[in-house]
Amino acid sequence: MSKTRIIIALCLLISANAMAKPTLKQAYANYFDIGVSLPASIVNDKKSQTLVAREFSSITAENCMKPLLLSPIKGEYEFAAADSLIDLAISNGQKIRGHALLWHFQSPDWFFDPTPDGNKPSKEIVFGRLRTYIHDVVGHFKGRVYAWDVVNEAISDNVDEFLRASKWSEHCGEDFIMKAFEYAHEADPDAELYYNDYSVIYPIKRAKIIKLISSLQARGIPITGLGIQAHWNIAEPTRPQLVETIEQLKVLNIKLHITELDLRVTTSSLGGQITADTRAKAIYDFTPELSKRQADQYDMIFDVFRQYKDIIGNVTFWCLSDGNTWLDVRWNSVGKNFPLLFDPELKPKEAYYRVTQF
Ligand code: GLA
Repeated sequence: MSKTRIIIALCLLISANAMAKPTLKQAYANYFDIGVSLPASIVNDKKSQTLVAREFSSITAENCMKPLLLSPIKGEYEFAAADSLIDLAISNGQKIRGHALLWHFQSPDWFFDPTPDGNKPSKEIVFGRLRTYIHDVVGHFKGRVYAWDVVNEAISDNVDEFLRASKWSEHCGEDFIMKAFEYAHEADPDAELYYNDYSVIYPIKRAKIIKLISSLQARGIPITGLGIQAHWNIAEPTRPQLVETIEQLKVLNIKLHITELDLRVTTSSLGGQITADTRAKAIYDFTPELSKRQADQYDMIFDVFRQYKDIIGNVTFWCLSDGNTWLDVRWNSVGKNFPLLFDPELKPKEAYYRVTQF
């Protein structure tokens, strides 16, 4: 064979290989955006940056855009970390999801500070503070953040309770949810606005979420859709459970974002929470059997997501690799969770190939 022919054959082989192995964002270009949550420290981590640029079309700040981090002191803002992260994403041509404007956790207490005469602030005063915060934050990121998780986790896990008991519900009843959406829409009428929560695959909590979204829609509140957190595992959801969830939500005529996907290899804790059982069944090794079960589960879940590409706009993984998952560092955590598509050395796992090659 002549030298030229060998070179042509090699080039064909290389490009065929590249075509056979699409990256995540290439594989899903005609379906939905594929995102990842990132710590602010990514701006100093070249190795992770290369992987993030290659694989993902959307990013979410893991922490640095939460109220406690953006405005620990009333009227003061610390935008630098988020701005650097966003600059990086923009230089990669990635979209940015904003997470989150109102949450009961990782939120400063100043929203509820007493009035100058020492009284508990009225609902109107709290709303005034919330409006200023949302206008300042959404205004700052306007044009760069395309979608916001406006309210995070406001629904209760208790069967006989609708709203989670929090300082927000204590001071403002149910209306803080509606107000947060109104303020966000005023500040950026072009941004997509989501209500975000976990345990959506469970019928009782899902019914409450559907009730909330329906009531916001009935009042003309500008809500684009639901963020489904998706801290799941290798046994849950099952295909019927996931299909039923999406079918029921579809009726609301909203968009869905899968906002915090990870599939831990332990199956003994509910909704990602640590239980006594978690300790007894802690896992330390990512065995070939676990790898296969996880790959099967990821494969099934993405197969369902692809079927619903008309309503799913974004699927975001919560953290980049098994080396830095929040699940391993939760308070009281034991063992390992191995929940993502990349191992601690950032190498693609079996599940990655099943998700990208379908
Ligand atoms: C929730 C929040 C996220 C993140 C995870 C765990 O799901 O929405 O912002 O804090 O918990 O880290």
